[in-house]
Amino acid sequence: MKYKKIVQTNIKSIYADKKSDPLSSYSIIDKRLIYVGDKLKFDLYINDHTTHMSLFLQSNTIVDKVDKNTLMEIERLYVYKEQKSKYESFIEKRLQDTVESSDLSLDDKRDIIYTSTAELTNSLYENPEALENAQRSKNIVEPILQSIIRDDKAIKSFIKIIEYDYYTHTHSLNVSIYSLCLGSQLGLSEEKLNTLGSSALLHDLGKSSINHEILNKNGLLDQFEFLQMKKHPSLGYETAIKIGIKDKNILDGIRHHHEKLDGMGYPDGLKGEEITLFPRIIAVCDVFDALTTRRSYKEAMNSYDAIYLMKTHMHQHLDMKIVNTFIKMLHE
Ligand SMILES: [Fe+2]
Ligand SMILES: [Fe+2]
Repeated sequence: MKYKKIVQTNIKSIYADKKSDPLSSYSIIDKRLIYVGDKLKFDLYINDHTTHMSLFLQSNTIVDKVDKNTLMEIERLYVYKEQKSKYESFIEKRLQDTVESSDLSLDDKRDIIYTSTAELTNSLYENPEALENAQRSKNIVEPILQSIIRDDKAIKSFIKIIEYDYYTHTHSLNVSIYSLCLGSQLGLSEEKLNTLGSSALLHDLGKSSINHEILNKNGLLDQFEFLQMKKHPSLGYETAIKIGIKDKNILDGIRHHHEKLDGMGYPDGLKGEEITLFPRIIAVCDVFDALTTRRSYKEAMNSYDAIYLMKTHMHQHLDMKIVNTFIKMLHE
């Protein structure tokens, strides 16, 4: 549960109002990411349980054993947001080492991968048209996929952490992780899984172009607001093309994840076989994550109730073969 506390504080520090929380200029960094011998390109800060930040290690200093031991005693370690891009590049590189590390337990690896990729996903959605996002989505998906391939217990471990995650902004990351797990259960090749993970990660990219009041409204949307909201798959598709994504499967997942088998979905009203595999997989994970996530206007459903609802009421919407594999995966 200590880990969970860190995740919550991390999110608070990213999203809190600057006036009410001076810590919002800093991001928490997982100290397990820092190794002896590292020469970091950003400064590390610690805080003294108030709002005061002190410099712990200046950039370009080589981390020695003493620093590392002190680090392990410190509860929280921070980076200044102005140096965020340097810190993000560092995380992207370090993630691969985390997957390969023989010193870390599976759950430690999972925690680091989940918090780090959540942070990278936030940056991606904050600036959807950044050209580096095509590469960034690969950098986020790759360590998750590699840990699933290397250890068959990783799927269970990731599903557990998503169940504890109550924050809607990690929805796209959660859908990506579910899709990778589900895709591997469906027997997709590593190459296909890589593209499926990116497609799922980017599936709601178009929401970044929707008015914030509509996006964050507490309660049901009126007709006009719903029409605006329904534009997000095609807006996301256009953004994906702008950032250089050409893979048809990835684009299909973004554009068609709200299509329904009976043709009543959007934006293109596709029917049955017209809906390809990626949007079918993403739709199942998307619906499940939406149902099991707490929002300001609704309680989270438990996974049994969510599955029951999907099985009994969504035959016209979702591919039941995929739903059945998903259920098997959750219960294994
Ligand atoms: Fe969506
Ligand atoms: Fe979604």
